[in-house]
Amino acid sequence: MLLSLSQSANSATIGAMRIGPLALQSSLFLSPLAGYTNLPFRLVIREIGGVGLCTTDLVNARSLLEKKPKALQLIETRPADSPLAVQLFGAVPEEMRDAAQFLEAAGVHAIDINMGCPVRKICRVGGGSAMMAELRKTGALVRGMVDAVKTPVTAKMRLGWDDQNLTAPELARVLETAGVSAIFVHGRTREQGFGGAVNLQGIRRVVQAVRTIPVIGNGDVTTPPAAKKMLDETECAGVSIGRGAFYDPWIFRRTLEYLGRDSSDAPALPDAPADGLPPEPAFAERVRVMCRHLDLMVEVFGEERGCRMFRKVAPWYSRRFGPCHEFNRRAVCISTRAQFHQALEHYTRWRRQFTDERGDLLQRFQPAPLASSFMRNEPAAAARGAIPVPRGPVETW
Ligand SMILES: Cc1cc2nc3c(=O)[nH]c(=O)nc-3n(C[C@H](O)[C@H](O)[C@H](O)COP(=O)(O)O)c2cc1C
Repeated sequence: MLLSLSQSANSATIGAMRIGPLALQSSLFLSPLAGYTNLPFRLVIREIGGVGLCTTDLVNARSLLEKKPKALQLIETRPADSPLAVQLFGAVPEEMRDAAQFLEAAGVHAIDINMGCPVRKICRVGGGSAMMAELRKTGALVRGMVDAVKTPVTAKMRLGWDDQNLTAPELARVLETAGVSAIFVHGRTREQGFGGAVNLQGIRRVVQAVRTIPVIGNGDVTTPPAAKKMLDETECAGVSIGRGAFYDPWIFRRTLEYLGRDSSDAPALPDAPADGLPPEPAFAERVRVMCRHLDLMVEVFGEERGCRMFRKVAPWYSRRFGPCHEFNRRAVCISTRAQFHQALEHYTRWRRQFTDERGDLLQRFQPAPLASSFMRNEPAAAARGAIPVPRGPVETW
């Protein structure tokens, strides 16, 4: 994929970048979402275009070394799923080092270390966000990994444990010295969970703390203007998107276009309007991609398991369909692809009452876009349009 520079009044910069020796063609990243960022979803995102690097769900280093089927399935990939980072968690330096070597031998392009997971089970053993509190120990663990592989090692963290302990800038400095190639930072503390607003100034302080490595901002980016605001106000080198990509798999592509670049191998979207915001995909395109996603789930996980897993995926697509309860009601019960297509056919007929003669949703039924916490001044309004936190294998991320 080549990115071509076009004239743009936007000040945010986006485009090709490097993570250590790894050249990326876009500085937009898919964040790990345990239970969601599996191979089918990553392939869907890549087919639409605009993403520079995708990361797997977090993988337990020890389970990987023990070749547990679940861990091996989490790192399952194929050539189209490239470049790929695998995210490791663990607190035993030797296990993290050996797992990094295992991943390097498997050919992954980057190894990310989870330092942001707030789940008690993971923190109790010194992994996830507990690493943010133990700078010396964390630095030594990371150094051991970096020295053992040529593959770039990156770290993903939150701003700190709580507002009194905003350790991310200090940790970032320690990690840079230990040799990490990039830092991803979710602009909230562990204590915040997903509440409150993403703290752009907090991300900026991490950007300012490091000398040369890129810092990638993360948190609540649900629209291209939100990505631009994060880039502008934090001066981060790139933006990583999690739930916003699940809600809108076109977000990478549209953000590149919005910021004045386009991905030349992706099929053309209609011309961008004067405000520069590329149009949202039409219903037919959303349905096409949703069906493709299901096909990939079935291909990778088998029909019954793939369909069952898709029960929690389909309602994310339908959020932008307009009135959708009639679809969700059936989609959350599917066990076969045929049942899914029956549900979709039924819904498509039912939806006509909300569309004009061309099949476009009537204005009054159009869903409002989700608001990023840092895009609105009035907290109550932001809370109303806040992006939901999908249920995953863990309850509080
Ligand atoms: C269901 C769920 C699962 C997540 N899994 C992971 C994970 O495996 N590793 C990780 O570092 N962060 C994980 N996160 C955090 C996201 O990567 C991201 O930092 C966070 O959702 C904020 O970004 P967003 O607003 O773009 O989603 C998860 C978040 C959610 C909601």
